[in-house]
Amino acid sequence: MIAIACDHAGIDLKPHVIAVLEELGIPYTDFGTHTRESVDYPLYGARAARAVASGQCERGIVMCGTGVGIGMAAGKVHGIRCVTCTDTYSAKMSRLHNDANMLALGARVLGSELAKDIVRIWLMTAFEGERHARRVGMIDRLDRGEALE
Ligand code: RB5
Repeated sequence: MIAIACDHAGIDLKPHVIAVLEELGIPYTDFGTHTRESVDYPLYGARAARAVASGQCERGIVMCGTGVGIGMAAGKVHGIRCVTCTDTYSAKMSRLHNDANMLALGARVLGSELAKDIVRIWLMTAFEGERHARRVGMIDRLDRGEALE
């Protein structure tokens, strides 16, 4: 189950993200927003992020105008490693090396076809583990307020 959410500025990208999820046969839960009425992106980033952090959803995809604000908000939720992506290479590497569990996209930045490629690659790439697991573990220690050295 993938959590998806957006603000008013991200709403035009949402149907394209849903199209990729449907193409891949991946179920999703849509945490809103559902209209173009102006809303505050942290609310929606947090709703999707809390669904991922609680285990209700395995991963999440959030959208706003730039992908920056909603990604920042999602990343503040304990347990979330959210990447804002504007290219397919970073999308792939964020899974292989960083085990990103949320992806943020900017509807005012990306064309729909590039956004769909980013989503496909991000969804289909698995974490490599091994030495990267140690480093992701260090990120998680930072998330818990622990010292690294
Ligand atoms: C909304 O105007 C815009 O600020 C928001 O969608 C996002 O781009 C913030 O980072």
